[in-house]
Amino acid sequence: MQPVSLTVNGEKVKAFAEPRTHLADFLREDQRLTGTHLGCEHGVCGACTVLIDGQPSRSCIAYTVACEGREVRTIEGFGEDAVMAQLRTAFNQEHALQCGFCTPGMLIAARDLVMRVPDADEKRVRVEMSGNLCRCTGYRGIVRAILSVLELRRAGNDAAMEAAPAAANDAFTPFAAKAAPAAQAQPPVAAAPAQKQAAGTVIEDEFTVDHPLEKVWEIFGDMPAVAGCLPGAEISEHTPTSLKGKVTTKFGPMRAAFAGSAALERDESAKRGAIRGSGTDSLSGSRARGDISYQLFDAGSGRTRVAVAIDYSLQGPLAQFSRGGLVREFVKKMVADFAANLNARLGAPAGLAPKVAPVMEINAGSIFWNWLKNLFGRKS
Ligand code: FES
Ligand code: FES
Repeated sequence: MQPVSLTVNGEKVKAFAEPRTHLADFLREDQRLTGTHLGCEHGVCGACTVLIDGQPSRSCIAYTVACEGREVRTIEGFGEDAVMAQLRTAFNQEHALQCGFCTPGMLIAARDLVMRVPDADEKRVRVEMSGNLCRCTGYRGIVRAILSVLELRRAGNDAAMEAAPAAANDAFTPFAAKAAPAAQAQPPVAAAPAQKQAAGTVIEDEFTVDHPLEKVWEIFGDMPAVAGCLPGAEISEHTPTSLKGKVTTKFGPMRAAFAGSAALERDESAKRGAIRGSGTDSLSGSRARGDISYQLFDAGSGRTRVAVAIDYSLQGPLAQFSRGGLVREFVKKMVADFAANLNARLGAPAGLAPKVAPVMEINAGSIFWNWLKNLFGRKS
């Protein structure tokens, strides 16, 4: 057992926990706060959602000892909360619960949404709530309830709600509909062709290739070659402006194969392009949409800098991976692997392609652990 000190619903708690005890078990069994429910215990269903330092978090995949010094707020800690009161009423009125098992997690996620995205429409509500699963009510009542609270808040006719701190969860940014960043002197791809308003989360990265710009530009126009550098990517059909294919990923024990299609854009003069696609994982039923934009810059000495921007959104059971820094770790690894394979391919003798993994594998023992360390590292 290890000592742990944290704040739970505003009260300081000093206790002992085994290193393997997750926060949900600690809250339920040690603190007797049984409003936090456990469904999957794999971070998928959202039933165990609590706030950790103001951010919605899955307490089933957070270790108690990693919460040293943190502030945890469970559903029991919202008794006096004006927005939560409105949500509770709306959930009752709109028949947004049946057995109630998912409801504590739903309410905490819904409150975060209401406060963070006050102008959310139905589509946004569905996307934002897609990481919380309900197995009996269906989602129409839940969506209606959240929309009614959003409307009430927008109308400004509820003094108590207006007094609630609207920016309480600013740090939590899943599915934030950000506008694509403005072009800079050496812009990351945000300034890709046919620039569109980003609809999901945007991640930017860049890498340098040890080959001249024209050569790199040429290979970016060869989709089978590009796919050949990306672990897990396969192309089944392609034309100069479109492609169909599949991307297979493995995250620890979870495997997904997103099959779909994409439109291709290229701007020869600006040396930039975009791949805009969407796909579905038949196993989990999750849907992914993503725009990958890129732009090439001459980095001097026969080298090329490649700036990449990925605007993505996930719906369904795998939407949980859109949250926190996990997906950033995933993208970082994907870009690094792609860059290494691209360098190898460009440097290989004609006709010899590097061997690329058939699956984009995320090692739960390294990336997931790094993510946890980043999440909790400040005080652990
Ligand atoms: S119990 Fe934690 S996400 Fe399902
Ligand atoms: S109300 Fe039963 S699982 Fe959602």
